Amino acid sequence: MNALFQWKPSYSVKVVAMDNQHKKLFDLVNELHEAMGSGHGKDVAGDVLYRLIDYTVHHFSAEERLMEKHKYPQLPAHRAAHKALTDKVVAFKKEFDAGTGNVTLELMTFLQEWLRSHIQTIDQRYSDFLNAQGVH
Ligand SMILES: [Fe+2]
Ligand SMILES: [Fe+2]
Repeated sequence: MNALFQWKPSYSVKVVAMDNQHKKLFDLVNELHEAMGSGHGKDVAGDVLYRLIDYTVHHFSAEERLMEKHKYPQLPAHRAAHKALTDKVVAFKKEFDAGTGNVTLELMTFLQEWLRSHIQTIDQRYSDFLNAQGVH
C-alpha cells in the first residue's frame, strides 16, 4: 500500500466541484492511513473511517444529482457502481464495529484501488458530456 496516496491532474474529471470532492476523499484515505499508523488504536481509526464513509456517501449523491440535473445518459450504470461500493463499505463497517481483524487496512486498500479506478474510468466518462453543457 502506498503511504502517499495523492490526487494527480490525470485524475481530473474536468468539473471543479467534483475534483475538489475527490481530493477530499484522497485526504480522508490518507488520514485513515495515518490514524492506523499512529498507534492510537481503534477509536481514532474508527472516527476517521466513519467520516470517510459519510463523505463517500455525500459525494456519490452530489455526483448523481449533477448527472441527473443534466440528464446524463449513463447515469443508471454509474449509480449502480456507486451502490455496489456503498454496499461493500457498509459490510466492512459492520465487520469493523464487530471488531474482526484488519478490516480497516483491507478497507483502505480497497478504497484506494476503487477510487483510482472509478475516477479514471466511470467518472471521467462524464467530463466531455458535462463540459459540453457548460459545467466545468
Ligand atoms: Fe462516480
Ligand atoms: Fe466521483
